[in-house]
Amino acid sequence: MPEHSRAAAEVWSDPSFAEAWLRADPTGAGDLLALPRTMAAALIAHELPQPQLIVDVASGAGVFLSVLLDAFPEARGVWSDASPAMLESARERLARFGDRVEFVLADMAELTKAGVPGDADVLTTSRASHHLDREELHGFYREAASLVRPGGWLVNLDHIGPEQDVWDKRYRAVRKQFTGPSPANAAKHHHRYPLPSVTDHLDGYRAAGLTDSDVAWKAFFSCLFIGRRASGEVG
Ligand SMILES: C[S@@+](CC[C@H](N)C(=O)[O-])C[C@H]1O[C@@H](n2cnc3c(N)ncnc32)[C@H](O)[C@@H]1O
Repeated sequence: MPEHSRAAAEVWSDPSFAEAWLRADPTGAGDLLALPRTMAAALIAHELPQPQLIVDVASGAGVFLSVLLDAFPEARGVWSDASPAMLESARERLARFGDRVEFVLADMAELTKAGVPGDADVLTTSRASHHLDREELHGFYREAASLVRPGGWLVNLDHIGPEQDVWDKRYRAVRKQFTGPSPANAAKHHHRYPLPSVTDHLDGYRAAGLTDSDVAWKAFFSCLFIGRRASGEVG
């Protein structure tokens, strides 16, 4: 298994770390990511009003998956993550969807091997791929795109590293005005800088064959990458 992917997964398997992170994760007005999650649902719905299968990779407690399952009441969801601690939280938080959700423990570097189903209408991931280096990120996009059926969507809502230091400094200086300070007890996890850049992500989409892709939303370090697999492609 690729090195950075494995290292990233390890810390999340500690139940006390996972619980502390979930407690500190912003909700309500401090959650800058609420808008891009619903934007992703709207962009998908505009061209694919009734997706049947939505796979969320490195899903955590399932926040992105629940937004999409609410937006698409006909759809089934697959929750997947490497952390058994997150599995427990996700089972609780996604219980209201009943048997619409299947749970698959899987490292994001080995989705097929772990039994994550192909033929997804939508494959999403959020706040996890920034742990990968460029090569692993491109490997992830290749495998993820192969699990999306022709005409389906690949969505990644994640933090990026600005390509110029001056923008890193500007964003750091201003961002807290919009999110508030992190709680004193926030669970911190290791990041390997620089994080993949916007270019690394868009190159990854293109290398995976998803040329119909864009950054649909960006605020400070966070981006919504979204791309559609050509509908005429052979699966
Ligand atoms: C910051 S949380 C984000 C959770 C969720 N996607 C969200 O946005 O709320 C990162 C998640 O990625 C998962 N993760 C980290 N490395 C992983 C890997 N190599 N394979 C699968 N999941 C991984 C962790 O277990 C954790 O649930």
